[in-house]
Amino acid sequence: MQIYQPLSLLLFALGATGLNFSYESTRLTEHDIGDFSAITFGDVSSAPSTYEGPEYKIQPEDAAWPSEEQWARLNTTVYGNLLKPHPVGAACYPNRPEYNDSTCAYLLGRATTSRFFFNDPLTALTTWGEGATCLQLLNTTGRTCSQGGFPVYVVNATSVRDIQVAVNFARNQNLRLVIKNTGHDFIAKSTGRGALSIWTHFLKDIEFLSDYSIGEYKGAAARVGAGIEAWETLNAMVEHGNITVVTSLDPTVGNGGGWVLGGGHGPLTSLRGLGADQVLSLNVVTADGNFLTADLNQNQDLFFALRGGGGGTFGIVTSMIVKAWPGRTKIGGLTFYFTTGSGQVTIPSGRGYPSTPPVHIADAETFWKAYREYLVFAKEIVDAGGFGFGDVTPQGNNTYVFVGTFTLPDIPSDKIKEFYTPLFTSLSKIGVEIPNVRHAFLPYAQRGIGVTPNSFPGTPADTFFISRLLPRGLWAAAAAANNNNSETPRLDAVAAANWGTAEMGYRVTTRAYGPSAEAAGYPGNTTTSAVNPAMRDMVIHCAIFNPKPVVDVLPAAEFHAQHARLRARVDELVRLTPESGSYFNEADILEPDWQRSFWGEHYPRLLEIKKAMDPWGLFWAPTTVGSEQWEVVAADGLPT
Ligand SMILES: Cc1cc2nc3c(=O)[nH]c(=O)nc-3n(C[C@H](O)[C@H](O)[C@H](O)COP(=O)(O)OP(=O)(O)OC[C@H]3O[C@@H](n4cnc5c(N)ncnc54)[C@H](O)[C@@H]3O)c2cc1C
Ligand SMILES: *[C@@H]1O[C@H](CO)[C@@H](O)[C@H](O)[C@H]1NC(C)=O
Ligand SMILES: *[C@@H]1O[C@H](CO)[C@@H](O)[C@H](O)[C@H]1NC(C)=O
Ligand SMILES: *[C@@H]1O[C@H](CO)[C@@H](O)[C@H](O)[C@H]1NC(C)=O
Ligand SMILES: *[C@@H]1O[C@H](CO)[C@@H](O)[C@H](O)[C@H]1NC(C)=O
Ligand SMILES: *[C@@H]1O[C@H](CO)[C@@H](O)[C@H](O)[C@H]1NC(C)=O
Ligand SMILES: *[C@@H]1O[C@H](CO)[C@@H](O)[C@H](O)[C@H]1NC(C)=O
Ligand SMILES: *[C@@H]1O[C@H](CO)[C@@H](O)[C@H](O)[C@H]1NC(C)=O
Ligand SMILES: *[C@@H]1O[C@H](CO)[C@@H](O)[C@H](O)[C@H]1NC(C)=O
Ligand SMILES: *[C@@H]1O[C@H](CO)[C@@H](O)[C@H](O)[C@H]1NC(C)=O
Repeated sequence: MQIYQPLSLLLFALGATGLNFSYESTRLTEHDIGDFSAITFGDVSSAPSTYEGPEYKIQPEDAAWPSEEQWARLNTTVYGNLLKPHPVGAACYPNRPEYNDSTCAYLLGRATTSRFFFNDPLTALTTWGEGATCLQLLNTTGRTCSQGGFPVYVVNATSVRDIQVAVNFARNQNLRLVIKNTGHDFIAKSTGRGALSIWTHFLKDIEFLSDYSIGEYKGAAARVGAGIEAWETLNAMVEHGNITVVTSLDPTVGNGGGWVLGGGHGPLTSLRGLGADQVLSLNVVTADGNFLTADLNQNQDLFFALRGGGGGTFGIVTSMIVKAWPGRTKIGGLTFYFTTGSGQVTIPSGRGYPSTPPVHIADAETFWKAYREYLVFAKEIVDAGGFGFGDVTPQGNNTYVFVGTFTLPDIPSDKIKEFYTPLFTSLSKIGVEIPNVRHAFLPYAQRGIGVTPNSFPGTPADTFFISRLLPRGLWAAAAAANNNNSETPRLDAVAAANWGTAEMGYRVTTRAYGPSAEAAGYPGNTTTSAVNPAMRDMVIHCAIFNPKPVVDVLPAAEFHAQHARLRARVDELVRLTPESGSYFNEADILEPDWQRSFWGEHYPRLLEIKKAMDPWGLFWAPTTVGSEQWEVVAADGLPT
């Protein structure tokens, strides 16, 4: 078991704005390359002029796969940081050399409460997305363990140089390349069969810059290494004292990686914008192997694309500078819930906020009226700068549980009750009395949260879901005369559709947040970053989960059947919100018309940037910009 070491380097630099992290000063030079032609730099100007590139990526079974000698030389060049790992589940398979039943028992038990899976070079946190390769099971009778959907080699990056070497090697040898950070990606964009993987997880530096200025921005900032997770940023904030940096809610999400590059929401999003809206500058290794800075003054196209255009597409980010807001944010919040079930219901933890006791509602109709009242109120939460959760879990036999939590950053303590009273009054009017409503204030940054993961392969959350962004227009009242704002037909239709969905056994979750252009501020408004324009106008991100955790091998036909049933439910929401889209980082791997859904009007520009920067199609992952140029064959639309 690996015990997590606290941040090895936490600098408090005073105005040291020109300083890069030490791992960024080790770079690949012509001298290092010498006669090792496999790692020479690429040249976009002499690359294929059309965006065709090579037609096929070399796989391990192909004759053109690099020889052992080449891999060994690659390893020497990266100072021994090349790994050839086997899937951890191999310990559970008697026919594998790694078989060890005590290790297998550890994987199924204690590994899940440690950093084990996060520190494994291959593990992706969703089993189904990597093709359910080499499952960790006590009983593996009749099953096999192969490398399957996992990469073959991994460069455990310790410097920009390691990344440049790996990028050049993969491009020159025409190998499949993947980038993995935490492995949180829901649709397995951070893994891939027969690939060379670049693993950014240990690029863990973080520092505060008390005085940073660029363009119109002047103030404090933080430089965040590619491997930093949200909880590490929060700890660094506690250390620093009086500063607030926007992070994800989930403490182990990679805030220096895929989270910010694909958008990145969190508890402060309605007030301060998305993760992508915080970014002032990024250091990145591009597909030609070069290392450069993208900001308002240089490489502006890349600066546009990396803020919301998606991870794994335009380059490998090694660090970024993000805004640091003055003061230490406190968040007020509460949890309430109601159910049509009659049995005992576990009181949810409320994400640290106090919860009301369970309220039992006699009939489903009243339950769904109450649900609608919450949806109506969600816009108030967003407009107040808050974040809301409203999840319905069906429990069979037409019984449902609703859990609502909302959190409001920086709300004055004498205003919070005033804020939420109208919600509980309107619930009371339809006969749902929520007793003992209590709120609490918690500091946003706290030490110690999230060190151990709440997500690992095989958890109940390990399933697929499909999502849709619900635009502000749904909250517009009907134009009928005398309408006193209580009728919102489009929103009511959404509530009705979600009832139908839950009735079929699906869990329906909502996250209310609104990264409006105003919240995004400088320099990340609607026109200057690649963030999905639909997110500027959203109130709720609605995600519907397949009922069964996909912790076992799912034949492609069965996956497609389950997927089509779920898709049909979400398509009802699509019909009600034709102007909207969905959130790239939390979406369907088979999202139809994904270019428009994830990027709207930005897509043509993003594709131009992709073609110009990566004519080789080196960075490839499903649903990323330019990914329509390639497909994984013989996989029935599933990644392998
Ligand atoms: C339990 C859980 C909770 C979540 N909570 C939230 C949340 O609160 N808010 C939210 O917005 N999202 C959330 N997400 C979704 C999350 O934003 C995405 O999974 C995101 O892609 C994670 O990025 P990562 O770097 O941690 O993961 P990875 O899976 O390692 O990487 C994700 C993608 O980014 C690419 N990538 C990673 N690092 C780099 C880099 N340095 N340069 C270029 N590309 C890179 C990878 O190639 C891959 O395509 C959650 C996901 C899970 C599983
Ligand atoms: C790379 O070199 C290191 C150090 O010599 C060694 O431990 C490691 O096993 C090598 N990796 C591969 C894939 O051979
Ligand atoms: C199995 O793993 C344990 C540690 O998990 C180790 O102590 C033991 O020696 C291993 N057994 C074999 C046969 O390798
Ligand atoms: C293990 O799995 C096999 C195949 O599914 C099954 O036949 C067998 O009964 C299982 N053994 C135990 C102990 O559950
Ligand atoms: C990867 O490198 C880090 C140091 O940067 C080291 O702590 C870790 O053990 C390495 N992981 C593996 C699997 O070699
Ligand atoms: C930091 O890196 C960028 C390239 O990303 C470079 O332009 C700049 O000179 C570097 N700064 C220092 C101090 O090395
Ligand atoms: C923290 O920052 C806020 C906002 O700038 C300021 O009002 C407050 O006085 C600071 N508190 C301390 C203890 O420095
Ligand atoms: C549903 O109702 C049936 C018949 O009354 C009962 O046997 C079953 O346990 C119920 N299921 C749940 C999940 O409550
Ligand atoms: C106005 O609100 C009242 C009470 O909330 C409701 O009974 C009435 O139907 C509403 N009128 C219209 C036109 O929506
Ligand atoms: C977005 O930012 C640019 C550059 O700062 C500015 O010119 C433009 O007016 C802004 N647009 C909006 C909608 O705020």
